[in-house]
Formats: sequence, C-alpha cells, structure tokens
Amino acid sequence: MRISVKAPAKINLTLDVLAKRPDGYHEVEMVMTTVDLADRVDLTLREDGEITLDCSASFVPDDIRNHAYKAAVLMKERYQVRQGVHMYIDKQIPVAAGLAGGSSDAAATLRGLNQLWKLGLTTDELAVLGAEIGSDVPFCVYGGTALAKGRGERITHLGTPAPCWIILAKPPVGVSTPDVYGNLRVQEITNHPPTKQMLQAIERQDFSLMCHSLGNVLENVTLSMHPQVRQIKELMISSGADGVLMSGSGPTVFALVQKEAKVHRIYNALRGFVKDVYVVRMLGASEGEVLA
Ligand code: C5P
Repeated sequence: MRISVKAPAKINLTLDVLAKRPDGYHEVEMVMTTVDLADRVDLTLREDGEITLDCSASFVPDDIRNHAYKAAVLMKERYQVRQGVHMYIDKQIPVAAGLAGGSSDAAATLRGLNQLWKLGLTTDELAVLGAEIGSDVPFCVYGGTALAKGRGERITHLGTPAPCWIILAKPPVGVSTPDVYGNLRVQEITNHPPTKQMLQAIERQDFSLMCHSLGNVLENVTLSMHPQVRQIKELMISSGADGVLMSGSGPTVFALVQKEAKVHRIYNALRGFVKDVYVVRMLGASEGEVLA
C-alpha cells in the first residue's frame, strides 16, 4: 500500500519577535500562508517495521536529521506501531531557504502515516505531535493561512488573502535559522511589523493593505549577513513589485504582484541574477491535500 502527500512551501507575510524565552527559543507572532510550490512525499507500507528514506536531492539527509524521518520515528514510538514505512521525498522546495520545506515534509509525513498506519488522529493531534519536531511543523500540518504565536505552534486560522501572484527568488546562499535568531538583538528591534493591520488586510482581502503590512524582523539580520538578499529585494522593487519581503530567516525573498503583466518582467529581471526563481499562487485550502 502506498500513498502520496503534497508538502507545500510557506511564506511569511509577517514575522515579529516579541521576546527571547528562557528555553532559548523566541516568542514570535507570524502570519504565514502556503503556496503552490510543493514537495511530494510517497509513503509505502513496510511490514518489517523498518523506517527508511530516499530523497530526489542527494544532499538531503536520509536519517534522524531529516524532519520527515523524525516524524515517522516519533509516530511509530508514540503509538507503538508494529509496521514501518519507506519514504521517498520528491524535493521541489529549495532547502534551507526560509520556505519551511523540511517542516512541510514532516507535516505531510504525519498526515500520510496517520492514514497508512490507520491511527485515526485528528488534525489538531497531528499538530501537537508536529510541535515536538519543529516550530513550523504545526502550521504546516494545517496549511492555508494562519497566525502563529508562541514558539510558532499556537495557530489561529485565517481567511484567504487577496488573490495575487508571488515571485520567489532564492539567492545561492545557505542560511542557518539558529544563526539568524542568534544574531537578533530583541531589545534593538525597530521594525516590528503591523501584525493587526495584516490581519485586517487578510480579512478584507485588501491587496494594497497587505503589501503595506508586510514585515519581518529577521530581514535586517540576514541582509547584513548576505548582501545578495538586499540586491534581490531592490531588483524586485525596481522591476515594479507591489510588495517585497524576505520569508522566514531567509534567504528567499518574495514579491507580491497583482497584475499578471508585471510577473514576466520581474521574473525575467530576477533570472539574470539567480537560478532559483518561481512564480506561485497562494493556496486557499486550510488543510493539506492527500493525493491518493
Ligand atoms: O523549532 P526549530 O527546530 O525549527 O527551530 C530551529 C532554531 O530556530 C531553534 O533552534 C532556534 O535557534 C530558532 N528558533 C527560535 N525561536 C523560534 C523558532 C526557532 O529561536 N520561535
């Protein structure tokens, strides 16, 4: 028996840090939304109880360092599952990019194994389990658009934002999320995003207000470490993007565009600089899709 699950990327429309916590994490407030750039996770039942993983990208770890592998091990142990699984990840989302690719693979694995192993868990239960794997996993379990608080695991579902085009561009630099958070001086943050205004923009499906409410406090940290990220932002703005922001801890930058005619201009301008450029749309649905 085999099932395939889609694992979509996310972007941050806002990312605010409110405080550093005693446990080393940061108290955050983030508006996130899934987009139609996705990995595919194939799960094949193994009767011998083993958990194995293959990935289309050879540089992706195939052991416990991989969030999807961790998800399978956690589920098997927690629910004392006798069976195993062979996992294959068809990687389409750039790795270490600020797009939650690894977290989304883990979330897809939780959703898929819930079916394959017939565990009958609710989506909320899967999200709680996901929080043990990584801060972005609970959001990825639900997908859609949401406000994430706490470490990222406290989720409030939001409506679908105004329809628009999104151009993603990832410069060829690797960004370590712990390094970016480690270089953030919480007391010195001056660019807190207007989160409440973003919530209004989404509720009213107001594209212009959404563009004016974009903000990410990690952006300045990553920009100072990687000047290429700033160059890409500037290129998007000068090519006519309506709104531009770095996603997560970066280095991927996205442009929001309402008019289709502008999409090609921005795409072509970016392709001169970076290889990884994608034109995507936001996903409306609030739960991940199981393909078969
Ligand atoms: O939860 P996850 O393993 O994805 O987080 C990766 C790293 O990002 C953490 O080890 C921590 O350094 C940082 N982080 C943080 N505050 C958060 C989420 C992540 O400091 N809310």
